[in-house]
Amino acid sequence: MSALVRPSLQSIGTSMFSTFTRLAEEHGAINLAQGFPDFNPPADLIAGATEAMHDGANQYSPPIGVAPLRYAIADHAREQHGLVYDPDREITVTAGTTEAIWSAIVALIEPGDEAIVIDPCYELYGAAVAILGGIPRYVPVSPFPEFRLDLDLLERTFNERTRIVFVNTPTNPTGRVLTGEELRAIGELAERYDAYVVSDEAYENITYDGFEHVPVAADPRCRERTIMASSISKTFSATGWRIGWFMAPAQITEVIRKVHQFVLFSAPQPLQRGAAAMFAAARGSDYYDRLRAEYTERRDLFMPYLREAGLDVGQAPKGGYFIMTRCSSSDDAAFCRQLIERARVAAIPGSLFYSDPTNGPGLVRFAFCKRMETLREAGERLIAAMG
Ligand SMILES: Cc1ncc(COP(=O)(O)O)c(C=O)c1O
Repeated sequence: MSALVRPSLQSIGTSMFSTFTRLAEEHGAINLAQGFPDFNPPADLIAGATEAMHDGANQYSPPIGVAPLRYAIADHAREQHGLVYDPDREITVTAGTTEAIWSAIVALIEPGDEAIVIDPCYELYGAAVAILGGIPRYVPVSPFPEFRLDLDLLERTFNERTRIVFVNTPTNPTGRVLTGEELRAIGELAERYDAYVVSDEAYENITYDGFEHVPVAADPRCRERTIMASSISKTFSATGWRIGWFMAPAQITEVIRKVHQFVLFSAPQPLQRGAAAMFAAARGSDYYDRLRAEYTERRDLFMPYLREAGLDVGQAPKGGYFIMTRCSSSDDAAFCRQLIERARVAAIPGSLFYSDPTNGPGLVRFAFCKRMETLREAGERLIAAMG
């Protein structure tokens, strides 16, 4: 009988999020492990999708996505970030940032190709590269709480076999927003080694304290080689809708679209139309400013609870909706299990975001994309159990 699992899949485990979300459910814990809001998305999003369903938009859409959404994404990119993309030839609707990145990797990576992954990071990049027979080359950042990119090490990791460099800003799990210097260095190296930049900008609209999101493609050297992926998951608080996109120059788009048509064919049509309606509603309002203000309030409410519970909160996140902390134990996985059992609050072991978990011992990540009362309750529970 042939092997059940292809060799490249053998080292891939079950996503850490499934494991900790299941544990949280078993113990009735407040789930601050996984980054999904516990509040409803904006009413315009839901109304737009509901209307589309009643209006008969219930069948396949074109694989590249419905025109109103692609045009709305183009308007958003131009108005929020000063990026100009052609909605017909350069923008494609996908099943979240996840499918956009997966399709890009399938299109670009051949067995033996190398891909540079800044470590720690969201677990998808290295796993996808490895599944496809590519070689992830991890570049560790400095330890908690700075998490700075070592530009010399980055330069030494690039070589002729480098096909992709992954960028994620604002960064999960560290809460960093990459600096102009870091982005320039990445652009310079990608150009020198003729590599693609796959840029995960899922948190593009969630930054704090005057930090601005700068898309990698804002650098003209990067525009021609960057695949920017994002979604409505975080921006419109709808992680379960699975509506995202990628933006890339037409030639690159054409190739990735070939993969996308067989991975997904098309994203759910009524939800695409809801997203288009929501983009239109946000455009004429202060939606993005309010989103940032509300997340700032949540962050500032929750951090003091973590401190009082004895965690080292390091630096306040500058983007995204996670706080990376350091706990009293070097075994963060055991610590998180105890947290679920004793405090009935679920967080995620920070070491699991590292390619080698021994590089990030004792780190614990909390998601604060929750209602204020959820955060207060979680904070009280943490202090009662540990403070
Ligand atoms: C950095 C990063 N990229 C991508 C995703 C997944 O995004 P999507 O829901 O758009 O697939 C997440 C979700 O937590 C994330 O943190």
